[in-house]
Amino acid sequence: MKKNITVLPGDGIGLEVVQSAVEVLETIGTIYGHDFAFDYADIGGSAIDKHNDPLPASTIKACKAGDAVLLGAVGGPKWDQLSGDMRPEKGLLRIRKELDLFANLRPVIGFDSLSDSSTLRKEVITGIDLMIVRELTGGLYFGEPRERREENGETIAVDTLIYSRSEIERIIRKGFELAQVRSRRVTSVDKANVLETSRLWREIAEEISTEYPDVALEHMLVDNAAMQLIRDPQYFDVIVTENLFGDILSDEASMLTGSLGMLPSASMSAEGPGLYEPVHGSAPDIAGQDKANPLAAISSASMMLKYAFGLSEEALAVDKAIDQVLNEGFRTGDIAREGEAVKTTSEITQKVIETLRSK
Ligand code: NAI
Ligand code: MG
Repeated sequence: MKKNITVLPGDGIGLEVVQSAVEVLETIGTIYGHDFAFDYADIGGSAIDKHNDPLPASTIKACKAGDAVLLGAVGGPKWDQLSGDMRPEKGLLRIRKELDLFANLRPVIGFDSLSDSSTLRKEVITGIDLMIVRELTGGLYFGEPRERREENGETIAVDTLIYSRSEIERIIRKGFELAQVRSRRVTSVDKANVLETSRLWREIAEEISTEYPDVALEHMLVDNAAMQLIRDPQYFDVIVTENLFGDILSDEASMLTGSLGMLPSASMSAEGPGLYEPVHGSAPDIAGQDKANPLAAISSASMMLKYAFGLSEEALAVDKAIDQVLNEGFRTGDIAREGEAVKTTSEITQKVIETLRSK
């Protein structure tokens, strides 16, 4: 298979962890006979330095021309005094819009070997395997009007929660499609006892569920979902929800299993290339020191293999290699236990590659 991957390293540890992910993808290409070509482009602070723009037109063009985008992270103290459209994160927000990435996928997997670093009990952690599907381009974050005004001598602030049928349909479908290749259960999270958008959401979820008779649908109110995620996270397979609820629940769920350095994500559009990136930021405190955990970026590459290219076997090989490397006690500082040897980014990456090659 021939695929063109646009690589946006960004800033800080983004450069280091993206390099690890590229090396792993190259290894997979060699082992399984795929031709992955990598096209590098600038985003974030490094793009501001070079092009005076956190998302230069050349980067947008490169992303749209490729089959998938691999991103590191953006931002850092060097650019903290900049404001508005010149902020590094603007590059990220704009590329999401340019590629119309309406579905954000965040898997949460409980690694047995890391269960000591979680606050939950070991038997609760080990079985966690859930996927949060968050609507990313609608809802309260984009609704108009958003304004402040003076009324009867008081300051009023307004945000608008708005969703259209088509916006809801496409994200719910994404949830069902994912459930079909997982454990065939969708939990649709809303606040239908209070919100009109949630009542429409629930109606549409019911309608769409008839197209997927092999998948079970249930509805859960968001406050209850927040509670159940802590009480019994193994209960969930696919959670599909709107933008704000998904923002909060995905951050909550990410802390069930341990470190930020372990969490991958994928953002998808209807047809064009998707964006695959670790959840963490540019970690200026450890940047340039070969200390960053590359596993979130490597897992993001695995998601790319599976969801962008349909290469499930290759993705599984990467996931298994990560699991094995952890089981053998290889850990960066963020996940090492007291007294355990701390490995570098390069050492972990090489270990993943060796593990893949030895299969
Ligand atoms: P951060 O995720 O960069 O770091 C938070 C803490 O987690 C730090 O102590 C860091 O060392 C640690 N950490 C994060 N990723 C790690 C990894 N792979 N291995 C080991 N340790 C890791 O978040 P923070 O500090 O709030 O933000 C730093 C910069 O990153 C800011 O400029 C922020 O705007 C940006 N940022 C960018 C994101 C993105 O590009 N998607 C997301 C979040 C923040
Ligand atoms: Mg968040």
